[in-house]
Amino acid sequence: MCVYMHITHQYTNTPIYTNTSKMANFSMIVAIDEEGGIGKDGKIPWNSAEDLKYFSKITRGSIVIMGRNTWESLPQKPLKQRENVIISGTLIGENVYPSLDDALNFYKDDLREIFIIGGQRLYEEGIRRRRRPSLRDGVCQKIYITAFSGKYNCDVFFPIREIEEKYVKVWQDGNRTLFERIGGEGD
Ligand SMILES: NC(=O)c1ccc[n+]([C@@H]2O[C@H](COP(=O)([O-])OP(=O)(O)OC[C@H]3O[C@@H](n4cnc5c(N)ncnc54)[C@H](OP(=O)(O)O)[C@@H]3O)[C@@H](O)[C@H]2O)c1
Repeated sequence: MCVYMHITHQYTNTPIYTNTSKMANFSMIVAIDEEGGIGKDGKIPWNSAEDLKYFSKITRGSIVIMGRNTWESLPQKPLKQRENVIISGTLIGENVYPSLDDALNFYKDDLREIFIIGGQRLYEEGIRRRRRPSLRDGVCQKIYITAFSGKYNCDVFFPIREIEEKYVKVWQDGNRTLFERIGGEGD
């Protein structure tokens, strides 16, 4: 049986579900353009101080999980006031895990909210995870999306179409939305 801690997020005032069973549940945060693009040539192709501020506000105090390229693309590392976790099969170091499963398993009893913060491969893996009751896999419960107008000719994307079936919009503030997962065990 899953055990949920009910904590409310400081900014959206929606509940944070922390699964204290076998693997941790998690959230995602992403900024996309009109085509679902998230990056180009290893960088985010728009420059929005306001969005960086929002990202910091939402993720402050949390555990942020990212792929190696995203880690390497950060102008200032680590991201302050957050536990930075990197997924990589090639890097070795503290807070580096060879798979998402390994990281979610390590943080399964941690009460902080866990965010996947990019890039494409981790977003895809995060969205496609299913709740397998026997394994009690962690799944993505919440997705914070900021949508920018315009097309930025991106070369990496967020799987935006895949969220329609499994997630429902629960909050919106201008171009920012929050989606929550629907469905039960086995979904
Ligand atoms: N718009 C946004 O919100 C946003 C957010 C984050 C990033 N970005 C952008 O996205 C781009 C980077 O994304 P990306 O897709 O190229 O790279 P990425 O996902 O950040 O990193 C890819 C690398 O991470 C490791 N990795 C990722 N998923 C893994 C998994 N499931 N299992 C094992 N290893 C895994 C592998 O490292 P090894 O090769 O070391 O094994 C892989 O080569 C940049 O342009 C960045 O600016 C945008």
